[in-house]
Amino acid sequence: MELKLVLPSKKYFAQIEKYKKDFFAYGSSFDGTGSLKSNDVDRWLKECEDHRHGKNLPKGYVPATQYICIRKSDDKLVGMLQIRHTLNDFLLNYGGHIGDSIAVDERRKGYGTLMLKLGLEKCKKLGINRVLVTCLDTNVASRKCILANGGKFEDKRRFVDKENGKDDTLERYWIEL
Ligand SMILES: CC(C)(COP(=O)(O)OP(=O)(O)OC[C@H]1O[C@@H](n2cnc3c(N)ncnc32)[C@H](O)[C@@H]1OP(=O)(O)O)[C@@H](O)C(=O)NCCC(=O)NCCS
Repeated sequence: MELKLVLPSKKYFAQIEKYKKDFFAYGSSFDGTGSLKSNDVDRWLKECEDHRHGKNLPKGYVPATQYICIRKSDDKLVGMLQIRHTLNDFLLNYGGHIGDSIAVDERRKGYGTLMLKLGLEKCKKLGINRVLVTCLDTNVASRKCILANGGKFEDKRRFVDKENGKDDTLERYWIEL
């Protein structure tokens, strides 16, 4: 396997900063990165560790494990993936168990599909056997990653994005492990 999921650590500090900077420059959505968009990397690392253990969770949040996805050949950070350990109402309707993204300069190489596969293996280890993954109905790439990993469409739900007030439609898929 070309990629691995690991817990974020100081070792990847500079690469995490670059990931964030590139996402801003590209105008990319920060899926599967927790609070990286609004936090500095030091604080984000601490928060990832806390949230994994269910510590200091903001209201309405559930414990979650943040992973970074590393390409083994050159130790490059090529993606991020977050697993929510349980579903609350919001996650059941919209967010799902898994959020993820691929570095802007590493997209369309099959990594999104492969990283989700690795994320599903981690879900299994966490005891999640039925995984909910969602995507915007306009997100062709994400839908393809989900379908390639065995996603079964359940329904679409309307969603108002609090950040921009936009009315979006999310597609919901279940993956049986
Ligand atoms: C969605 C995302 C993770 C996909 O990662 P990726 O590494 O580019 O995905 P893959 O290379 O595995 O591509 C999967 C499929 O989508 C297609 N695809 C990728 N990007 C595409 C695009 N911009 N437009 C159309 N199709 C695209 C690929 O050709 C591939 O199709 P195939 O299976 O028929 O060959 C990545 O685009 C991303 O980080 N987007 C921003 C964050 C995001 O939307 N995350 C998902 C939230 S639900």
